[in-house]
Amino acid sequence: MRILVTGGAGFIGSHFVDRFIAEGHQVWVLDNLRSGSKANVHASATFVHLDLKDERLSQGIARIKPEAVFHLAAQIDVRISCGDPVFDATENILATLRLLEAGLANGMEFFAFASSGGAIYGEASGPQSESHVEAPLNPYGVAKLAVDKYLHAYNVQRGLKSASLRFSNVYGPRQGAKGEAGVVAVFCKRLRDGHAPCINGDGLQTRDFVYAPDLAEAASLVLQQRATGIFNLGTGRETTILDLAGRLCDSAGVDSLQIQHSPGLAGEQRRSVLDASKAQNLLGWRPRTSLEEGLRATYDWFRTHRQEEA
Ligand SMILES: NC(=O)c1ccc[n+]([C@@H]2O[C@H](COP(=O)([O-])OP(=O)(O)OC[C@H]3O[C@@H](n4cnc5c(N)ncnc54)[C@H](O)[C@@H]3O)[C@@H](O)[C@H]2O)c1
Repeated sequence: MRILVTGGAGFIGSHFVDRFIAEGHQVWVLDNLRSGSKANVHASATFVHLDLKDERLSQGIARIKPEAVFHLAAQIDVRISCGDPVFDATENILATLRLLEAGLANGMEFFAFASSGGAIYGEASGPQSESHVEAPLNPYGVAKLAVDKYLHAYNVQRGLKSASLRFSNVYGPRQGAKGEAGVVAVFCKRLRDGHAPCINGDGLQTRDFVYAPDLAEAASLVLQQRATGIFNLGTGRETTILDLAGRLCDSAGVDSLQIQHSPGLAGEQRRSVLDASKAQNLLGWRPRTSLEEGLRATYDWFRTHRQEEA
């Protein structure tokens, strides 16, 4: 198939690209390289250096004529979304609508969107399924939810088959470690550079860590089945940040007694965990990689890719 992956030079998108190439698809990557890197793009993919907001987007899509689009390009920083909601909505809602329109005008048959369980459901008291109340706490989450709703409307109005993939906390090789990026990447980078992890608060806050290549397998299943609707993609297991830091210290051969703490962040979610039974039952997906294996592979990647990192 002809597949376009937006954000395919970024962390998660590049794993999707690798998977699709391995399956024999013809893959294009559209990315403005704001947070992504060309080094992440598989040599067999065709790279298009373009911003989704660029007026040449329609022409670019007309040249590619993708049958399927996996849309991962986004403004991913929650703090930026709070400081500049207009910018966030322009990047995460309006640019998505432009992509949808350009795709539909050029024969796109299937669209999949990188949504976010953690940002949409808010505070968890246990694993959250797709029917859990949607209560985004910041503009980033509101934008993700808005696109999920638009996709439903496009399905009803225009017959577009699409899947909203609500990821939990994703980790793995190639994750950026700048600013407030994923905690696994931040801790790996600190350990690699000879510093112990520094935890915000007591470290008893929990997250559901899912390994990026496992999500790429879910993407492949969604494509094969043209699965339509909302799918939570997580492990259903909660890990405390303290446990995570200890495991990474073990991988790096650092004494976990050196773990540091800084004051907790105001408004930080205490618990986050997804129930992915729907993906398991309908797609036949389950995350294959144990946290231990995934963290080991991720730390190894950070150790051996020093020069490409922030
Ligand atoms: N990392 C997570 O834990 C997580 C969780 C839930 C959802 N998501 C979603 O998954 C997607 C991928 O996230 P990631 O962690 O791989 O982030 P990332 O920053 O590594 O990837 C995003 C990519 O999009 C590109 N991009 C950004 N704005 C663009 C624009 N206007 N035009 C073209 N390209 C643009 C960036 O250069 C980058 O390569 C995002 O939509 C994010 O919101 C991520």
